[in-house]
Amino acid sequence: MADANNIVFLDGQFMPMSEAKISPMDRGFLFGDGIYEVVPSYQAKLVGFELHIQRMQIGLDAIGIELKMAVNDWRDIAQNLIEKNGRGDLGLYFHVSRGADMKRFHAFPENIQPTVFAYAFSIPAATLADKQKVKQYRVTSTEDLRWKRCQIKSTSLLGNVMHFQQSQEAGVDETILYNQHNELTEASACNVFIVKNEVVVTPPLDNQLLPGITRNMLLDILRKDGTLQVQERVISMAEVHAADELWLTSSSKDIAPVVELDGQPIGTGSVGDIWLLAQTLYCANKHTY
Ligand code: PDD
Repeated sequence: MADANNIVFLDGQFMPMSEAKISPMDRGFLFGDGIYEVVPSYQAKLVGFELHIQRMQIGLDAIGIELKMAVNDWRDIAQNLIEKNGRGDLGLYFHVSRGADMKRFHAFPENIQPTVFAYAFSIPAATLADKQKVKQYRVTSTEDLRWKRCQIKSTSLLGNVMHFQQSQEAGVDETILYNQHNELTEASACNVFIVKNEVVVTPPLDNQLLPGITRNMLLDILRKDGTLQVQERVISMAEVHAADELWLTSSSKDIAPVVELDGQPIGTGSVGDIWLLAQTLYCANKHTY
């Protein structure tokens, strides 16, 4: 997909990316005042679409942006982007900012129209449940220095961007984050799971992490299957370092196995058996959401 020729959606119209323009007074640009979503689509099959739109609506409500769009309006945009940009493996990016005002003033202005933008980008082919083929992730860890409303999928991503940049500068794939009590929160753009003695554990939902759709689908799939014990509870960083397996989850990664944390191997330093089982179940069930 040649990016400048991508067909994107902006404020009710489809157009080439190169023609999509917004005002510099848009509050998304000035304040990061907006909400976004990323929905995976594999060969024109959307994964977790309604769950993503529900989460976006919760975010819009949380920051007081009123937008009269229903799930089916978003679905139409998604289908159009897929048809216009090729039916391959795509991430669909949806973005709503509060809109453009005439002046820069922190308070929410009245009577402005939200800006709605959507586009499609290529993502890697769906992760296969195959230990030999899956990408092995290496990560670093650091104290979570973002804000205290991480449950909102805000376009104000500078905190996340700075943490992700730390991983790039360290030559690894992601940065895992912990709070001031040395408890795992999430990663800069993923949720995190550990496995210890065949029990799958992830931190509980609160203001310290995004309620990831992949996280929630995986928990649901594992609980329905019943083979593995699953827990949502506080996890210390000591437990993370001592884990048998460590996983990242996100819409563009499914379940990503981590083999190294801060230069030390996780478990045996190779992709684990529990990952294989979880990813097998995830592959078999993700299209039912
Ligand atoms: N990131 N935590 C954070 C901070 C994230 O940014 C993401 C997703 C996740 C995983 O959420 P989900 O399973 O719903 O994708 C957790 C997206 C993909 C992004 O910003 O590009």
